[in-house]
Amino acid sequence: KKPQHRKGSMADVPQNLKDQIHALETIFTVSDAKLKAVTKHFIGELDKGLSKTGGTIPMIPGWVMDYPTGKESGDFLAIDLGGTNLRVVLVKLGGDRTFDTTQSKYKLPGPMRVTKNRDELFAFIADSLKSFVDEQFPEGVSSPIPLGFTFSFPASQNKINEGVLQTWTKGFDIPNVEGHDVIPLLQEQLEKRKIPINVVALINDTTGTLVASLYSDSETKMGVIFGTGVNGAYYEVVKDIEKLDGKLADDIPASSPMAINCEYGSFDSEHAILPRTKYDVIIDEQSPRPNQQAFEKMSSGYYLGELLRLVLVELHEQGFIFKNQDVSKLNTPYIMDTSYPSRIEDDPFENLENTDELFQADLGIETSTVERKLIRRVSELIGTRAARLAVCGIAAICQKRGYETGHIAADGSVYNLYPDFKQRAAEGLASIYDWTMPMEEHPIKIVPAEDGSGAGAAIIAALTQKRLAAGKT
Ligand code: GLC
Repeated sequence: KKPQHRKGSMADVPQNLKDQIHALETIFTVSDAKLKAVTKHFIGELDKGLSKTGGTIPMIPGWVMDYPTGKESGDFLAIDLGGTNLRVVLVKLGGDRTFDTTQSKYKLPGPMRVTKNRDELFAFIADSLKSFVDEQFPEGVSSPIPLGFTFSFPASQNKINEGVLQTWTKGFDIPNVEGHDVIPLLQEQLEKRKIPINVVALINDTTGTLVASLYSDSETKMGVIFGTGVNGAYYEVVKDIEKLDGKLADDIPASSPMAINCEYGSFDSEHAILPRTKYDVIIDEQSPRPNQQAFEKMSSGYYLGELLRLVLVELHEQGFIFKNQDVSKLNTPYIMDTSYPSRIEDDPFENLENTDELFQADLGIETSTVERKLIRRVSELIGTRAARLAVCGIAAICQKRGYETGHIAADGSVYNLYPDFKQRAAEGLASIYDWTMPMEEHPIKIVPAEDGSGAGAAIIAALTQKRLAAGKT
């Protein structure tokens, strides 16, 4: 039942380092009892988020008020902004629960996350769209192509084709976007370039994941992302969304569903329950938005490499590792992304030769076998903690909604690429529920999602067009 650490032998690790490892194990290990307590607290915070006064979790109504039928059809464009790449996708919905996608990825230039000029970001998106459209439709198009914009940040919506950024997350920090609707900012750049596109819907990646997966799997209960950020979406019933009071048109029945983008990465930003270590505190204090996204900062891909780096820097400063080495590179914040702990955990060799190579080539540091064993153990601790904590959001939603069975559609770089994440997440969920049966029999299963930011955005765009055509609000 417990995580299977592929722990190599620690026999040759000297006692002083063993003591350090032991201390780290103590602070990074989250007990089953703690997971249960976190989940319980989480449920209360989700409820507060839906209330009129609100709480720390935004619980943003997404204005997706239909379940997909699987019959949605047509050609749509989708873009996805929110991780390390901008993705542009052409989606052909088949109308029979199937779809085809053609996509291009455009790497977000690193400094773009923190550019001082917001127009640069939207110009970059428009330029990427232009090259994609020119390539896919060399003959031009007869009418504007509908586009679903997956904008994976907390954005308030009073309607589906609006998104007022509440706050940047995941290390983005661009002035004059918070408090603004991002659709006109994008549309302006599209018009400048005479690109025939109509932005019909703005969605979150979690909502897209939820809807795309529900399009092909009717057991889907939530869409979740374990990637650069951590978040989830589910369908609420409008009468239970207290804060919608007065905002709903009269033609909408009280029993109507509405997708909620929880933005639960912000859970516990008041620091009431999560077991934060001093490294978590440093990450928070040095981030562009201290005191926000507490849950995400302990569990998402944007921070895992940085956590590892902070631990190693401290052990070096205390004289335990990398003696007489030039650690100037290691001292650079965020120089290690999640691919570091990921590759280190993936290192198949008993003496961790891949890790050796990684530290030499990328950081200019020679490591001893013993040091590498320590680095591996710290990576395991960080990766395991992230997976176990991250599933508390799932358990909280399921318990709140009374879901006892079903599929949780998951996507994101950490879910798809981080070694053992899937196993650890399933084990974490089992610990919260005291499940003892084999993983395949878990009543609530985390399953790989359909392409949410592409197909999901397209399906939501199709649902929106259908509503508009039917004269609904
Ligand atoms: C961050 C964003 C959220 C997104 C998640 C996963 O938490 O605020 O909107 O869903 O990352 O990408």
